[in-house]
Amino acid sequence: MRLDKFLSSQLPDISRRDVKRLCLKGRVTVGGAAAKRSDMHIDELHDEIALDGVPVVYREHIYIMLNKPQGVVCSTRDGLSQTVLELVPDHLQRNGLFPAGRLDKDTEGFVLITDDGDLAHRMLSPAHHVPKTYFVRLEKPCEEGCENIFAQGFEDDEGGRWKPAQLRLLNESRTECELTITEGRYHQVKRMFSQQGNRVVFLKRIAIGNLLLDDSLALGECLEILHKDVDKLLAEKAR
Ligand code: URA
Repeated sequence: MRLDKFLSSQLPDISRRDVKRLCLKGRVTVGGAAAKRSDMHIDELHDEIALDGVPVVYREHIYIMLNKPQGVVCSTRDGLSQTVLELVPDHLQRNGLFPAGRLDKDTEGFVLITDDGDLAHRMLSPAHHVPKTYFVRLEKPCEEGCENIFAQGFEDDEGGRWKPAQLRLLNESRTECELTITEGRYHQVKRMFSQQGNRVVFLKRIAIGNLLLDDSLALGECLEILHKDVDKLLAEKAR
Protein backbone atom coordinates (compact mmCIF):
# COMPACT_ATOMS: atom_id res chain seq x y z
CA MET A 1 0.00 0.00 0.00
CA ARG A 2 1.19 3.56 -0.62
CA LEU A 3 2.30 5.44 2.48
CA ASP A 4 -0.09 8.35 1.82
CA LYS A 5 -3.05 5.97 1.41
CA PHE A 6 -2.08 4.15 4.59
CA LEU A 7 -1.83 7.27 6.76
CA SER A 8 -4.92 9.00 5.38
CA SER A 9 -6.98 5.84 5.96
CA GLN A 10 -5.77 5.36 9.52
CA LEU A 11 -5.74 8.91 10.89
CA PRO A 12 -8.64 11.36 11.08
CA ASP A 13 -8.49 14.58 9.11
CA ILE A 14 -5.27 13.65 7.31
CA SER A 15 -5.44 13.81 3.54
CA ARG A 16 -2.94 12.35 1.10
CA ARG A 17 -1.72 15.88 0.42
CA ASP A 18 -1.13 16.37 4.16
CA VAL A 19 1.02 13.23 4.17
CA LYS A 20 3.19 14.73 1.45
CA ARG A 21 3.77 17.83 3.59
CA LEU A 22 4.45 15.77 6.71
CA CYS A 23 7.03 13.70 4.82
CA LEU A 24 8.78 16.83 3.56
CA LYS A 25 9.07 18.00 7.17
CA GLY A 26 10.53 14.62 8.19
CA ARG A 27 7.67 13.88 10.57
CA VAL A 28 6.85 10.44 9.13
CA THR A 29 9.15 7.47 9.65
CA VAL A 30 9.14 3.99 8.15
CA GLY A 31 11.19 1.47 10.10
CA GLY A 32 12.78 4.34 12.03
CA ALA A 33 14.00 6.25 8.94
CA ALA A 34 12.35 9.45 7.76
CA ALA A 35 10.13 8.79 4.74
CA LYS A 36 11.22 11.00 1.87
CA ARG A 37 8.31 10.32 -0.45
CA SER A 38 4.63 10.05 0.43
CA ASP A 39 4.00 7.76 -2.54
CA MET A 40 6.51 5.12 -1.42
CA HIS A 41 5.13 1.61 -0.96
CA ILE A 42 5.03 0.13 2.50
CA ASP A 43 4.01 -3.22 3.96
CA GLU A 44 1.13 -2.14 6.20
CA LEU A 45 1.21 -5.37 8.19
CA HIS A 46 4.93 -5.46 8.98
CA ASP A 47 6.56 -2.04 8.56
CA GLU A 48 6.77 0.20 11.60
CA ILE A 49 5.19 3.48 10.55
CA ALA A 50 5.16 6.46 12.90
CA LEU A 51 4.02 10.06 12.83
CA ASP A 52 5.92 12.37 15.15
CA GLY A 53 7.34 9.25 16.78
CA VAL A 54 3.89 7.80 17.58
CA PRO A 55 3.37 4.38 15.94
CA VAL A 56 0.37 4.05 13.63
CA VAL A 57 -0.93 0.47 13.84
CA TYR A 58 -2.84 -0.79 10.83
CA ARG A 59 -6.50 -1.73 11.19
CA GLU A 60 -8.47 -2.30 8.04
CA HIS A 61 -11.68 -1.32 9.79
CA ILE A 62 -12.70 0.06 13.12
CA TYR A 63 -15.72 -0.96 15.22
CA ILE A 64 -16.93 1.31 18.00
CA MET A 65 -19.55 0.66 20.65
CA LEU A 66 -21.31 3.87 21.68
CA ASN A 67 -23.72 4.17 24.59
CA LYS A 68 -25.98 6.75 22.95
CA PRO A 69 -27.71 9.24 25.24
CA GLN A 70 -31.17 10.62 24.53
CA GLY A 71 -31.21 13.77 22.38
CA VAL A 72 -28.45 12.58 20.02
CA VAL A 73 -29.29 11.54 16.46
CA CYS A 74 -28.00 8.56 14.49
CA SER A 75 -27.00 10.37 11.34
CA THR A 76 -23.69 11.56 9.98
CA ARG A 77 -24.81 15.20 9.80
CA ASP A 78 -27.58 17.20 11.42
CA GLY A 79 -27.87 20.95 11.57
CA LEU A 80 -29.78 21.03 14.85
CA SER A 81 -28.95 18.09 17.09
CA GLN A 82 -25.71 16.51 18.15
CA THR A 83 -24.88 13.41 16.07
CA VAL A 84 -23.45 10.11 17.27
CA LEU A 85 -20.29 10.79 15.23
CA GLU A 86 -19.62 13.89 17.30
CA LEU A 87 -19.34 11.66 20.36
CA VAL A 88 -16.48 9.60 18.91
CA PRO A 89 -13.25 10.67 20.64
CA ASP A 90 -10.30 11.84 18.53
CA HIS A 91 -8.25 8.68 18.97
CA LEU A 92 -11.04 6.58 17.40
CA GLN A 93 -11.91 9.01 14.60
CA ARG A 94 -11.26 8.06 10.98
CA ASN A 95 -12.55 8.94 7.57
CA GLY A 96 -15.71 7.11 6.49
CA LEU A 97 -17.27 6.40 9.89
CA PHE A 98 -21.05 5.97 10.03
CA PRO A 99 -23.62 4.56 12.46
CA ALA A 100 -24.72 1.06 11.43
CA GLY A 101 -28.44 1.29 12.05
CA ARG A 102 -30.53 3.88 13.79
CA LEU A 103 -31.99 4.43 17.20
CA ASP A 104 -34.65 7.08 17.72
CA LYS A 105 -33.53 10.39 19.18
CA ASP A 106 -35.14 9.50 22.51
CA THR A 107 -33.73 5.94 22.62
CA GLU A 108 -30.54 5.21 24.55
CA GLY A 109 -27.98 2.49 24.21
CA PHE A 110 -25.79 0.48 21.90
CA VAL A 111 -25.01 2.03 18.53
CA LEU A 112 -22.31 0.48 16.38
CA ILE A 113 -20.15 3.03 14.58
CA THR A 114 -17.85 1.66 11.91
CA ASP A 115 -16.26 2.22 8.52
CA ASP A 116 -16.99 -1.38 7.46
CA GLY A 117 -19.90 -1.25 5.01
CA ASP A 118 -19.96 -5.03 4.46
CA LEU A 119 -20.35 -5.82 8.13
CA ALA A 120 -23.02 -3.15 8.54
CA HIS A 121 -24.93 -4.59 5.60
CA ARG A 122 -24.82 -8.11 7.03
CA MET A 123 -25.80 -6.85 10.49
CA LEU A 124 -28.78 -4.87 9.22
CA SER A 125 -30.05 -7.05 6.39
CA PRO A 126 -33.31 -8.82 7.31
CA ALA A 127 -31.95 -11.98 5.65
CA HIS A 128 -29.36 -12.35 8.42
CA HIS A 129 -31.81 -12.16 11.34
CA VAL A 130 -29.27 -10.55 13.67
CA PRO A 131 -31.12 -10.12 16.99
CA LYS A 132 -31.21 -6.75 18.72
CA THR A 133 -32.21 -6.70 22.38
CA TYR A 134 -33.87 -3.77 24.13
CA PHE A 135 -34.66 -2.90 27.70
CA VAL A 136 -38.20 -1.51 27.65
CA ARG A 137 -40.14 0.38 30.32
CA LEU A 138 -43.88 0.56 29.70
CA GLU A 139 -46.62 2.91 30.79
CA LYS A 140 -48.91 0.04 31.82
CA PRO A 141 -48.33 -3.58 32.88
CA CYS A 142 -47.95 -6.11 30.07
CA GLU A 143 -51.01 -8.30 29.74
CA GLU A 144 -51.08 -11.98 30.80
CA GLY A 145 -49.73 -14.13 27.98
CA CYS A 146 -47.90 -11.27 26.26
CA GLU A 147 -44.76 -13.44 25.99
CA ASN A 148 -46.68 -15.90 23.80
CA ILE A 149 -48.19 -13.18 21.65
CA PHE A 150 -44.74 -11.76 20.91
CA ALA A 151 -43.26 -15.27 20.47
CA GLN A 152 -45.83 -16.13 17.82
CA GLY A 153 -45.62 -12.84 15.95
CA PHE A 154 -48.71 -10.76 15.34
CA GLU A 155 -50.27 -8.56 12.72
CA ASP A 156 -48.53 -5.24 12.21
CA ASP A 157 -50.17 -1.88 11.57
CA GLU A 158 -49.55 -2.14 7.83
CA GLY A 159 -51.41 -5.38 7.14
CA GLY A 160 -48.28 -7.57 7.39
CA ARG A 161 -46.85 -9.39 10.40
CA TRP A 162 -44.20 -8.74 12.99
CA LYS A 163 -41.75 -11.63 13.11
CA PRO A 164 -41.65 -13.63 16.36
CA ALA A 165 -39.88 -11.77 19.13
CA GLN A 166 -38.68 -12.87 22.54
CA LEU A 167 -40.17 -11.03 25.50
CA ARG A 168 -38.90 -11.48 29.07
CA LEU A 169 -40.61 -9.68 31.93
CA LEU A 170 -38.22 -8.22 34.48
CA ASN A 171 -40.37 -6.99 37.36
CA GLU A 172 -43.46 -8.06 39.26
CA SER A 173 -45.45 -5.08 38.14
CA ARG A 174 -44.86 -6.23 34.52
CA THR A 175 -43.82 -2.78 33.33
CA GLU A 176 -40.20 -3.62 32.56
CA CYS A 177 -39.03 -6.20 30.06
CA GLU A 178 -36.34 -7.22 27.62
CA LEU A 179 -37.44 -7.62 24.04
CA THR A 180 -35.34 -9.28 21.34
CA ILE A 181 -36.31 -8.65 17.74
CA THR A 182 -34.69 -9.78 14.50
CA GLU A 183 -36.08 -7.06 12.24
CA GLY A 184 -35.19 -3.39 12.29
CA ARG A 185 -38.31 -1.61 11.17
CA TYR A 186 -39.07 2.06 11.77
CA HIS A 187 -40.02 2.67 15.46
CA GLN A 188 -40.49 -1.08 15.68
CA VAL A 189 -40.49 -1.62 19.44
CA LYS A 190 -42.74 1.37 20.10
CA ARG A 191 -45.16 0.28 17.39
CA MET A 192 -45.29 -3.32 18.60
CA PHE A 193 -46.27 -2.24 22.11
CA SER A 194 -48.64 0.41 20.85
CA GLN A 195 -50.50 -2.32 18.99
CA GLN A 196 -50.81 -4.19 22.26
CA GLY A 197 -52.49 -1.10 23.74
CA ASN A 198 -49.42 0.00 25.69
CA ARG A 199 -46.81 2.76 25.42
CA VAL A 200 -43.03 2.65 25.67
CA VAL A 201 -41.83 5.32 28.12
CA PHE A 202 -38.13 4.39 28.07
CA LEU A 203 -36.12 2.39 25.56
CA LYS A 204 -32.50 1.29 25.58
CA ARG A 205 -30.72 -1.11 23.22
CA ILE A 206 -28.61 -3.43 25.31
CA ALA A 207 -27.28 -5.96 22.79
CA ILE A 208 -26.61 -6.49 19.10
CA GLY A 209 -26.20 -10.14 18.12
CA ASN A 210 -24.40 -11.71 21.05
CA LEU A 211 -22.50 -8.59 21.99
CA LEU A 212 -23.78 -6.87 25.13
CA LEU A 213 -23.51 -3.15 25.71
CA ASP A 214 -20.61 -2.82 28.15
CA ASP A 215 -22.20 -1.83 31.44
CA SER A 216 -19.15 0.17 32.49
CA LEU A 217 -19.74 2.51 29.54
CA ALA A 218 -21.35 5.78 30.67
CA LEU A 219 -23.90 7.51 28.44
CA GLY A 220 -22.08 9.27 25.60
CA GLU A 221 -18.93 7.13 25.93
CA CYS A 222 -17.33 4.99 23.24
CA LEU A 223 -15.29 1.81 23.35
CA GLU A 224 -13.39 0.16 20.52
CA ILE A 225 -14.71 -3.36 19.95
CA LEU A 226 -11.86 -5.83 19.92
CA HIS A 227 -11.39 -7.95 16.83
CA LYS A 228 -12.26 -11.16 18.62
CA ASP A 229 -15.67 -9.70 19.52
CA VAL A 230 -16.65 -8.38 16.10
CA ASP A 231 -18.15 -11.72 14.98
CA LYS A 232 -20.52 -11.58 17.96
CA LEU A 233 -22.27 -8.68 16.23
CA LEU A 234 -23.43 -11.08 13.55
CA ALA A 235 -24.48 -13.98 15.77
CA GLU A 236 -27.93 -15.08 14.72
CA LYS A 237 -29.03 -16.65 17.98
CA ALA A 238 -30.29 -14.48 20.80
CA ARG A 239 -28.39 -14.66 24.08
N1 URA B 1 -37.56 0.50 18.12
C1 URA B 1 -38.03 1.75 18.37
O1 URA B 1 -39.23 1.96 18.46
N2 URA B 1 -37.13 2.74 18.51
C2 URA B 1 -35.79 2.54 18.45
O2 URA B 1 -35.02 3.49 18.61
C3 URA B 1 -35.33 1.25 18.20
C4 URA B 1 -36.24 0.24 18.05
